Amino acid sequence: MGFKKIKNKMSKTIIVSNRLPIKIERTNQGLNFMPSEGGLATGLGSIYNTGGNIWIGWPGIIPENETEEKEIRAKLETLNLVPVFLDQEELEGFYEGFSNEVLWPICHYRPSYAVYDEANWQTYLNVNLKFSDIIKSYMQENDEIWIHDYQLMLLPSQIRAFKNEISIAYFQHIPFPSHELFRLIPWRNELLNGLLGADLIGFHTFNDSQYFIDACSHILGTKNKNNSLQHGGRTVFVEAYPMGIDNSKFEKLAKESSIRERAETIRDNFRHRKIILSVDRLDYSKGILERIHAFENLLKEYPAYMKEVVYYMLVVPSRDQVPQYKMLKDEVDRSVGRVNATYGTEDWIPITYFYNSYPIEELSALYVSADVCLVTPIRDGMNLVCKEYIASHPEQHGVLVLSEMAGAAQELPDALIVNPNDAYSVAQSLMQALEMTEEEQSERMEAMLENVRKFNIHHWVNQFLERLREIKDLQDKELSR
Ligand code: G6P
Repeated sequence: MGFKKIKNKMSKTIIVSNRLPIKIERTNQGLNFMPSEGGLATGLGSIYNTGGNIWIGWPGIIPENETEEKEIRAKLETLNLVPVFLDQEELEGFYEGFSNEVLWPICHYRPSYAVYDEANWQTYLNVNLKFSDIIKSYMQENDEIWIHDYQLMLLPSQIRAFKNEISIAYFQHIPFPSHELFRLIPWRNELLNGLLGADLIGFHTFNDSQYFIDACSHILGTKNKNNSLQHGGRTVFVEAYPMGIDNSKFEKLAKESSIRERAETIRDNFRHRKIILSVDRLDYSKGILERIHAFENLLKEYPAYMKEVVYYMLVVPSRDQVPQYKMLKDEVDRSVGRVNATYGTEDWIPITYFYNSYPIEELSALYVSADVCLVTPIRDGMNLVCKEYIASHPEQHGVLVLSEMAGAAQELPDALIVNPNDAYSVAQSLMQALEMTEEEQSERMEAMLENVRKFNIHHWVNQFLERLREIKDLQDKELSR
C-alpha cells in the first residue's frame, strides 16, 4: 500500500466513485488498461494525478485469479487508483439490483420500474461498507473525501462514524426526486441519514438541492436553516453546482483536419442531406422511444422533409443485465424498424441506428457533421452530450433541441427547449431547427458557447473543492471558539 507512505504529514484528497476512470480489457496478449474519456475523469484528472491524492472505485472487471488481481492492483497503483473488487453476487445485488433497479428509477421518476428486494438492499449496504473499509485504510487526519453518485449514498455516514472531524463531500450526478417519490423506498431513512454524514452535498440544479432538503425535512424531520441542514450537531450544506465539460478538448478536436475530413465523409455518405443527431446511453430516462416517435411525427406531418433529412441515432450499450434495459433495447430495435419500413425508400433510410460505443474522434466527427443535435431526456441530472455538441461548433453553426427535463436546460435557454413527451411540439422544434437561418444559429450558438466555455469542468471542480475547504475552515473556527 504505497500511497500511505507518499503523503505522511500533508493532507490529501480521496475521490471515490463506483467506477474508476479506467477501462480494463482482457485480451489474448494479457490485460489492457485504457483511461476513460468521461468528463468526470478529465475534470478530476488534475486532482488525483497530483501528489498523494488517490481515486478509489470498482475497476470494472472481476479478476480470474489472485495473480490477475495482483497485476491489476499494481498497475492501478502507478496511476494513483485503488481498486474495490466486487464479485458477481455483489454486482448483481449492489449495482444492478439496488443502484439501478431502485435508486435509478426512483430518482428518474419511474417508480413502476423499482424492484424492492431486501437482499439487494443488504448487499448495497455491505458493498458501501466494503468501500468505506478501504477508504479508512488510506485515510489520514486532515484528508478530504469526495464521494460521487447514488451507488454510494451510505458512505458519508459510514466514514463519519469512524472519524468525526474528517471533511466529506458528496455529489449526486443524477436528479433528486420529490420527497413523495423518495419516500416510496423502504430504506429511505437509512439513505438520507447516510448522505447527511457529508459536510457538503452537491446537485446539478437548485431544484434538486431543494428536493433533497424537502425530503430530509418531511421524512426525517431535519431542521433546515438557510438551505443547510442541522444533523447530529453538525451543519450539512446542500448546494447546486452545475457540472461542465472539458470544452477545449472538444473545440480542439473539432478543428483538427482529420476530424473535419471524417465529418465531410459522413455528410457525403448521407448525400448532404440534413443530419439530426442523438447520442445516449441506452436508458429509459433518455427518452429514446419518445424521440423516435417525434421524428416519425415530423415525417408524417411534414412529408416535404422526406429524403431531405436523416436521423443518426447512436445508442451506447449500458446495464444490459438489468431487465428494463433489455426490454428497452428490443423496443428501440422494433421502433426503428417500423419507421424505416414505413417511410424508407430504395435510396433513403430515415433512421441510421447504431448500438455501439464510439471512440471520441468519431464522436467528435459526428458532432461536427450534425446540423441538429436532438437531446430529449425524460429526466436527466445534467446531460453533457448537449454541451459536447456546442463545444464542437466553435464556428457557431448548428442547432440544439433540448429537453426542459435536463439539468442543462437551466443553463442553456438559447437552445430550442422542448417537452420530450410532446411529440407534436418536438416535431415543430425540429422543423424550426432545420429551417433556422445561419444568422440565428450563430447568435444562439455564441451565447451557449460562452456558457460552456466559462462554466467548464475545471471551473466546476475548483468551485466545489473551494467551497468544501471554506466549510472546513468555518467548522474549525467554530470548534476553536
Ligand atoms: C450516469 C451516472 C454515473 C454512471 C454512468 C454510467 O452518468 O450518473 O454514476 O457511472 O451513468 O453508468 P454505469 O452504470 O455504466 O456506471
